Amino acid sequence: NSMLSWQRTAYHFQPEKNWMNDPNGPLYYKGWYHFFYQYNPEAAVWGNIVWGHAVSRDMIHWMHLPVALAPDQWYDKGGCFTGSATVLPDGQVIMLYTGVTRDKVQLQNLAVPADLNDPLLVNWVKYSGNPILAPPPGVGDTDFRDPTTAWFTSEGKWRIAIGSKLNTTGISLIYDTKDFKTYELYDGLLSAVAGTGMWECVDFYPVSTTSEIGLDTSVIRPDVKHVVKTSLDDVQTDYYTVGTYNDKKVKFEADNPEIDVGIGLRYDYGKFYASKTFYDPSKERRVLWGWIRELDSEFADIKKGWASVQAIPRTILLDRKTGTNLLQWPVEEIENLRLTSNEFENVKVNPGSVVPLDVGTATQLDIVAEFEIDKEALEKTTQSNVEFSCSESGGAAQRGALGPFGLLVLADEILSERTPVYFYITKGSNGHLKTFYCTDQTRSSVATDVTKQIFGSYVPVLKDEKLSVRVLVDHSTLESFVQGGRTCTATRVYPTKAIYGAARLFLFNNGTEASVSASVKIWQMNSAFIRPFHPEETH
Ligand code: FRU
Repeated sequence: NSMLSWQRTAYHFQPEKNWMNDPNGPLYYKGWYHFFYQYNPEAAVWGNIVWGHAVSRDMIHWMHLPVALAPDQWYDKGGCFTGSATVLPDGQVIMLYTGVTRDKVQLQNLAVPADLNDPLLVNWVKYSGNPILAPPPGVGDTDFRDPTTAWFTSEGKWRIAIGSKLNTTGISLIYDTKDFKTYELYDGLLSAVAGTGMWECVDFYPVSTTSEIGLDTSVIRPDVKHVVKTSLDDVQTDYYTVGTYNDKKVKFEADNPEIDVGIGLRYDYGKFYASKTFYDPSKERRVLWGWIRELDSEFADIKKGWASVQAIPRTILLDRKTGTNLLQWPVEEIENLRLTSNEFENVKVNPGSVVPLDVGTATQLDIVAEFEIDKEALEKTTQSNVEFSCSESGGAAQRGALGPFGLLVLADEILSERTPVYFYITKGSNGHLKTFYCTDQTRSSVATDVTKQIFGSYVPVLKDEKLSVRVLVDHSTLESFVQGGRTCTATRVYPTKAIYGAARLFLFNNGTEASVSASVKIWQMNSAFIRPFHPEETH
């Protein structure tokens, strides 16, 4: 057991032990951030699903509270599945969640706080009229789950979406309600995309086209676009699309149907799933939570006694420079964990070289790096690797003219273990440049019972922008935010040698033609307090 304890993260949210999956019902109430999550109180594998609950002042330090919802009714005996919170203008808190019966039928249920004067919302009461919704005709009993946060309609009702599928078409059903107890099914769909399969954990929210201020879920204005996100069960990946919502027609339309929800853009190109946003009125921002699962074996999870972490909550905005994608960035509060820093300016990294960055131990880091590729070499290169893709082009050991170059994180001194996170530029015969950002885990661990994939994607880089990335390193968890958060990659790594004091950080350039100049600032990160509740600490 102790042998594996180093994999525990220091500042990512995780329960003290056992299995965790989806984020549930995040909300802000009376000065506290509430976070709920799918939790198995009995083992480090999925099952016996209850809602774990934790509270925080800053979304970084957490206190674990008692389980909020447990399967104690006929309609949720098979598990209290995922759901969402709605904070009404009068201060009421509505929690909708999916209950599963013993026979696996999925039903929607309502729960409310027992005492709205308790800012910690410790106790929850299930509505006596539950379940409030059963699968409508034509929808499968096991294809009806994960209600969204409600938004207000122009007709003065509340509206929710629920994910499902019809044959292989992923869909989001729509219901309207006045009191969260009785609902009308709308006979159209908010959105549907052929071939995408079951839609889990649908999310729907507005983003501003004119400012960096986040918006409450009900905001409808001309300077707003809407986002639909779905978690595709078949591929365990979160997809989103930006488009227009018509409140009267009860219809969402993607700006670009070719990248509609489920077939185009991903929140994250690593392991990041079942995500959910909420509006934080205290800082006028929309915040995204997402689950990062394990990539080791179930046997290893049982042995270490826990499984999964949550990604650092991300502020989410429309990228007003491109207008087509979102920007995700770790909430600013994470910067309060920054300790001492090291800065390296304009370090030249020649083709085929590795340069150590002496920061001491390198297991809890916040890295901000900028790269400039040699302009002459860039121009001289006529054409390079136009067919490149992170996952299929062989990883960081494969040399191209203009990449790979970047960082080696969670590496040991002799590089027997290392995880390259890197840029790779391709050039078409027409001179067109395309930039990729990849995470190559093939040499991240000498352990054999872990999945070692190469993740990554294309990143839009606009004229005159430098290549930039922020990397959060936290023992077994790695998150990258490229070009201000246009493309993100969260994943888990399992080094056995590059741990604690033995972990190192390097720059590398495995391209053949161009040198790169790197400027890097690296902070050691403090550990967060994530621990059981002690009443005296709330004052
Ligand atoms: C997504 C999901 C949800 C479901 C929950 C069960 O990971 O499958 O659709 O509500 O997990 O734990």
